[in-house]
Amino acid sequence: MGKNRPADRAQSADKVAIVTGGANGIGKEICIRLAEAGTCLLIADVQEQVQETAESVAAQFEVASDFYMGDLSREEHGLAMMERAIARFGKIDVLVNNAGGGVILPFLEHTSETLKTTIDRNLWTTIWACHAVLPHMVGQNFGRIINIGADSVRTGLYNHAAYNAAKGGVHALTTGLAREFVDSLVHQESIYLIIFQNSVIKKCRSVFLRKIDHFTNQIWI
Ligand SMILES: NC(=O)c1ccc[n+]([C@@H]2O[C@H](COP(=O)([O-])OP(=O)(O)OC[C@H]3O[C@@H](n4cnc5c(N)ncnc54)[C@H](O)[C@@H]3O)[C@@H](O)[C@H]2O)c1
Repeated sequence: MGKNRPADRAQSADKVAIVTGGANGIGKEICIRLAEAGTCLLIADVQEQVQETAESVAAQFEVASDFYMGDLSREEHGLAMMERAIARFGKIDVLVNNAGGGVILPFLEHTSETLKTTIDRNLWTTIWACHAVLPHMVGQNFGRIINIGADSVRTGLYNHAAYNAAKGGVHALTTGLAREFVDSLVHQESIYLIIFQNSVIKKCRSVFLRKIDHFTNQIWI
């Protein structure tokens, strides 16, 4: 077990995490790392594949897991996701806002639709999930929220202006909420991801997994 990993399953066995955008990619890897640590999971995604991911993670790691399928950029789906987790597990300890992804284009090639999609996928999914889950976390006086941001906000990566506007909003939301909810022991982190294309993930798997371990480790601090 790497030194960034949660100590053992006992530490997180009674914990419940929601991971948005968990059907694929980085979100699925986060689910796997949490499940390995024994965390119960509610995996949410707009894609049908979320059911298969939830079932395979549960079977492989012998954890309780469920799924919610819906467009989390809409308030009603954020609320329904939260209600599903409470109905299934009775509480929510951790929220990982990973749903997102860019429509990466030169700024002037964006249309109103691609701009809206970019903000919806990255910023509104995060806002509505936080808005739905925070009252529960405040009520139980405990919570951990990890919002997946992007390092391109800092570097100004080429053709990423619209995506950076969305992820910049995610970073700003996180720092604002961290201050606002500090007294209710709801800790919030914004994780600044650098580029991980799927081909790079395959080639640099150990580096990628160390980064995921760093994320998941922060949940228990
Ligand atoms: N891959 C990279 O290079 C990179 C770099 C920096 C940041 N990030 C961020 O990391 C996160 C994961 O990226 P990834 O590369 O695994 O992307 P991905 O496209 O493989 O996965 C994103 C997941 O989010 C889901 N999703 C998108 N919009 C949704 C919505 N409205 N409602 C519900 N689910 C929705 C998708 O269906 C998908 O399963 C994203 O937030 C992304 O912006 C990725």
